[in-house]
Amino acid sequence: MADYLETIEDRPVFPPVEPGTLRPLFPVAPPEAPEPLAAILDDYRRLIEPNATHWNHPGFLAYFATTASGPGILGEMLTAALGQNAMLWRTSPIGTELEQVVVDWLRQALGLPEGFDGLLTDTASTSSLIALAAARQAAGLDVAAQGLTGRPEVPALRVYASTEAHSSIEKACMTLGLGREALVRVPVNERFELRPDALDAAIAADRAAGHRPIALVATLGTTSSTSVDPVAAMAEIAEREGLWLHVDSAYAGVVAMLPGRRAPFDGWERADSIVVNPHKWLFTPLDASLLLTRRMPDLRAAFSLVPEYLRTLDRETPVRDYNEYTPQLGRRFRALKLWIQLRWFGLEGLRRRIERHLELAAEFARWVDDDPDWERLAPVPFSTVCFRWNPAGGATEEELDARNAAIMDAVNRTGEIFLSHTRLDGRFTIRLAIGNLRTEPRHVERAWALLREAAAG
Ligand SMILES: Cc1ncc(COP(=O)(O)O)c(C=O)c1O
Repeated sequence: MADYLETIEDRPVFPPVEPGTLRPLFPVAPPEAPEPLAAILDDYRRLIEPNATHWNHPGFLAYFATTASGPGILGEMLTAALGQNAMLWRTSPIGTELEQVVVDWLRQALGLPEGFDGLLTDTASTSSLIALAAARQAAGLDVAAQGLTGRPEVPALRVYASTEAHSSIEKACMTLGLGREALVRVPVNERFELRPDALDAAIAADRAAGHRPIALVATLGTTSSTSVDPVAAMAEIAEREGLWLHVDSAYAGVVAMLPGRRAPFDGWERADSIVVNPHKWLFTPLDASLLLTRRMPDLRAAFSLVPEYLRTLDRETPVRDYNEYTPQLGRRFRALKLWIQLRWFGLEGLRRRIERHLELAAEFARWVDDDPDWERLAPVPFSTVCFRWNPAGGATEEELDARNAAIMDAVNRTGEIFLSHTRLDGRFTIRLAIGNLRTEPRHVERAWALLREAAAG
């Protein structure tokens, strides 16, 4: 592990392989006889490492970063050795109570009030699914017991999120039996932020049509452009309409740990639930998602089911059995790596690194703005810059799309830097997202140099 991390920059961020070329490198059938560890590790070095996308590489500037910090890796090793299943307090007293400690430490670090409790899940997708399941339960239709089908008295339920909200919200609607049509995609302004007037209109139209609004989702740091929905205005609407407000801040939420940078989050303390992913910009190895909520009893109403074999007979006082709040029973001891990491970096160390990423992104945005051949395509509220090559000369939108796709591809093929893309206002948009623990100014400078070389070529 140490060798790998020390030599990571010698490897291409994205391996030069084609789909389907790896599977044939492995035997079709599993080995009948045991094999020596040395042979297995040789094959690990030969077959596994060179064919991985190196998320821990400092040149990984695609999607949103996930980094495994040293203390986080140590935490994962200890977690495997301890083998805790934090499903019941009894099956892991320390797994349960350290989760309560870490959830509350993170709540404080994010500047949220004491009323928020919560839990750790694998991903933001699961956290949002749980939040929306609780919202569905809180609507008073007793869906946990009665389901949604064959009930003529149940109107069509509606959830509202912007056109820029993450696909996990739509998937949650699919999974919860609301259907994708239950998700009303509310238009955004020119900064890709949800328009409260359009939200008001959508809710009014749905009520008039006999539908039943149940939840709003505000995204603070959307996936494409990292735009920030007006969460205070949405909280106002949620309170007036009696709707559950869920905040998806999977990527950007950690910025609230910096007291001087809290403005985009003003009003999120009025939400019913909030998701922030330590496995994105808090340098925690996959997986770790934090779901905070002021309404733990609603999560429990949505998911609690205690068969005899899970009943704890020696329980004298009420204890937290986390499986009562989630769809799955078995639960990893995720709190351990977070506890180790939070102590290793300290909040001060985490803030300093996040601040540096914000400054690096601002600097990259300035380079784009100052170069007449390049164009920024969205504001930069956090550490992600959306841009494209667009020199004077009257190229069509199709030509610009093709040329920018080729530029990004040329940069990615160098193996030094890995970028990803999105579409904003229909335009092919290159995204440079800084959030990797090991990214330094020289990597961002190199990305800019490679982009300009590719454009000139
Ligand atoms: C805003 C937002 N929400 C949710 C997710 C999904 O995260 P996860 O992979 O943890 O489910 C992402 C992923 O990038 C995201 O950007």
